[in-house]
Amino acid sequence: MSDGFDPTRFKAMERAGFNRIARHYDEGAHLRESLQAALVDAAAPAAGECWLDVASGPGLLARAMAPRLAPGGWVLATDIAEGMLAHARGRTDAPNIYWTAADAEHLCLPDGRFDGVSIGLGLFVFPHPERALAELRRSLRPGGRIALSVWGAPGSVPLIERAQQCLARLLPPPRVLRPSVFRFGEPEVLAAALSGAGFSSLRLTPHEFSCHFANADAYWDAFLALAGGVAEALVRLPEGRQAALRAAVVEDLADFATADGYRIPARTLIATAVRGD
Ligand SMILES: C[S@@+](CC[C@H](N)C(=O)[O-])C[C@H]1O[C@@H](n2cnc3c(N)ncnc32)[C@H](O)[C@@H]1O
Repeated sequence: MSDGFDPTRFKAMERAGFNRIARHYDEGAHLRESLQAALVDAAAPAAGECWLDVASGPGLLARAMAPRLAPGGWVLATDIAEGMLAHARGRTDAPNIYWTAADAEHLCLPDGRFDGVSIGLGLFVFPHPERALAELRRSLRPGGRIALSVWGAPGSVPLIERAQQCLARLLPPPRVLRPSVFRFGEPEVLAAALSGAGFSSLRLTPHEFSCHFANADAYWDAFLALAGGVAEALVRLPEGRQAALRAAVVEDLADFATADGYRIPARTLIATAVRGD
């Protein structure tokens, strides 16, 4: 990250933003349903296993994994934004999901406790992803698995990039600098991060999906329901400025117009690996 990046401020902004959008994030999660399903399939949680889901948000992965872990297994869902977890708890009565607020870079969890750890669309939001990966490796038993998803490389995720393009066109540079959400999108970068953290038997699989929006407003709402820190920054802008951004994004979406709105693609990577020793 460039000079001027303040990890503490950035984390606070993410936490505030994801707390703010918890319900909307959950409501918009169906747009990424195929990704969540593919990640859970790749993780292959099995009956009796104990899993840790970090950056769990509204517990999408935990909720999907819980039935596969029964009988005898459970998942601990964690997130820095306690409002996300509070919302998630109200969405399930699964007896084998536990919840606790936690920063992925500093986990108060014992060594070697988990059979698997998962991170859905989370690695790139940690200011120090190498610290989070070290913590996850530490909390896995030898031979335990990691399964995660990240956004693809720059240029392959119009779903996010068109909104970012609009923000860059209309606003001055953000006051709280942000690492790129595409920073693990190149397979070799993600592979290097995982192997550098002591994981082996890496498998990387691209996963592509597209989302339909009836109009540009629906696209903008979906973006705001996904991007915690950015949503937090935007809500602090004068209302007129927010309305101008919302109106302007039509221009950025023009080449994805269809007869009934917009269809906008996104590329992601799913990675699985094993704690090597
Ligand atoms: C894009 S959401 C992903 C949610 C969910 N895992 C999914 O697959 O949709 C990113 C999540 O990371 C959480 N987060 C951000 N920084 C974090 C940190 N340092 N430690 C733990 N969670 C963090 C946010 O609160 C948010 O819920």
